[in-house]
Amino acid sequence: MALISLAQAWPTLPFAILCFVLLVQIRSRLKSRLPLPPGPSGLPFVGNVQEFPLTPERISALHAQYGDLVRLTIFGDEFILLGSHESAVALLEKRSSNYSGRNMFELADMTNFDWLLTWMPYGTHFRKVRGCFHRCFNATAIQAYRPIQQEEVKRHLLRLLEHPRDFYEHGRKLIGTVIIRIVYGLDVKDSLPGCPPNKYISIAEESMSAFSVIFHPGQYYAQSFPWLRYVPAWFPGARFQRDFAAWRPIVRSMLNVPWKAAGKLTVRSEGKMPPWTFYANTMERIENNEEDEYAAKCTAASAYFGGADTTLSTLQIFTAAMASSPHVQKRAQEELDAVVGPGRLPTLEDKPSLPYVSAVAKECLRWRQVVPINVPHICSEEDEFNGYRIPKEARVISNAAGYSMDPKNYQDPETFNPDRFLVDGKLSSEILDPASFAFGYGRRICPGRHFAEGAVFLMLSNILHTFTIESGAGEAGKAAPSDVCKMTLGVVSFPAPFECNFKPKSSDAEALIRASASDLA
Ligand code: HEM
Ligand SMILES: *[C@@H]1O[C@H](CO)[C@@H](O)[C@H](O)[C@H]1NC(C)=O
Ligand SMILES: *[C@@H]1O[C@H](CO)[C@@H](O)[C@H](O)[C@H]1NC(C)=O
Repeated sequence: MALISLAQAWPTLPFAILCFVLLVQIRSRLKSRLPLPPGPSGLPFVGNVQEFPLTPERISALHAQYGDLVRLTIFGDEFILLGSHESAVALLEKRSSNYSGRNMFELADMTNFDWLLTWMPYGTHFRKVRGCFHRCFNATAIQAYRPIQQEEVKRHLLRLLEHPRDFYEHGRKLIGTVIIRIVYGLDVKDSLPGCPPNKYISIAEESMSAFSVIFHPGQYYAQSFPWLRYVPAWFPGARFQRDFAAWRPIVRSMLNVPWKAAGKLTVRSEGKMPPWTFYANTMERIENNEEDEYAAKCTAASAYFGGADTTLSTLQIFTAAMASSPHVQKRAQEELDAVVGPGRLPTLEDKPSLPYVSAVAKECLRWRQVVPINVPHICSEEDEFNGYRIPKEARVISNAAGYSMDPKNYQDPETFNPDRFLVDGKLSSEILDPASFAFGYGRRICPGRHFAEGAVFLMLSNILHTFTIESGAGEAGKAAPSDVCKMTLGVVSFPAPFECNFKPKSSDAEALIRASASDLA
């Protein structure tokens, strides 16, 4: 019976199979008319594990082989790499409503980093925090912070004069102190090298080291498998739960401790909280509104997090660049001598009349990238671009380090050359501004970028006006800042440790540093 019916069906079976295949094809064509971007073929299930962790060099090699759009997968997660600044603008900026998600919130929540703007998913709370950030760090608002920045830079110069070898620690202290004073209005007592640092700065530094371990790509499986949070700490192999438990208190205190202290300062000592601080400014607008105060608190803690390591790394890049480019220093110092003169320190008001020093600052922002591979932007809707399909939930990644070394953007990109930004002695708008890729894109663009650019200019103009930075080459066991300036791998990259010397430019410069610092209370 069965045999007979099979025999009867025989002529139609190939036809049925053909129909089935066609149907499947048509369905998938309808669902996705376009192919995914090309990329190396991966292993089953794990995907392109051999390409991870991603480095700027590896990404550039993939673009050289496969073109402007490259697709990778790992454990089923889709990555789309953008090979040019133009594509990054086209997607992350022009279509930013669909490319502004993040995907780390589960892990952030597990480790008490739920307050960190960088990992917040797109939504109401995110918009509140961004709005709060923008109100207090827009190009106009940051002008109120200049006196504090200038005061702390003077202290920094004195520390450099007295302990020149500790330049890295001085930089850390300078940047941390400026942020704590601007954001919370809290006093940060000066401490000498070797002494215990300020409490607020220690809390922040400890949280930042926890951060760099927790979010280092590939460090914990919980990054890819958030459901692991439900595995109990006693479970074999659940070391991450014990690590996270150890970090959670300090990470929480970064959100709460300085905020509470600012509150106490406001209530207890009338007039001690300057009205221009972030704390005073935001608290003035919110009255007993818990939701708004929480958003303000998140903004404050996120400012330290987003601003400290990034600005410090830029200062280190500047130092390494100067130690290997005496001719650049000399020209910058000549400009400062002519415009500012030996009797005072430069300020941000001098910036328009210091084009060469401004070009040095731009070149520091281009030559090495502090965030070489951008934080992934999650695509919220399936999209099409240049004939390819961008799947929903894909992590879209721009590569600032690649764009800064693209000969289409900059001639002879490896050379530290501020002149590339100058035409007839003026900053030219013809040349791609490194700020247009170094700070990311679209609705996720760095909200501290105006502040950062000002801070970088102020630091480096004051240092160039008073010191000459010399390479530490030749000293026993110390690495010289080589022309190469190799960067470490991480969300935020630093120049590999190096040694150099800060020598006062002249006895006049030394006297100026001492006089400026003694004017401070
Ligand atoms: C030279 C210094 C700096 C560099 C190179 C830098 C770079 C960046 C980059 C590349 C991003 C990611 C943007 C994206 O996803 O497309 C970012 C985000 C961020 N930056 Fe900066 N930044 C710097 C300084 C600062 C400062 C001074 C602050 C605070 C005052 C700050 C606060 C933040 C915050 C809160 C975010 C997260 C924004 C979000 O996810 O919506 N940054 N920064
Ligand atoms: C975002 O995606 C939606 C749905 O696909 C689409 O209608 C909209 O035009 C997209 N927005 C942008 C800015 O591309
Ligand atoms: C920019 O800052 C100014 C000065 O603090 C403020 O009045 C203004 O509202 C801010 N702009 C935006 C768009 O938030």
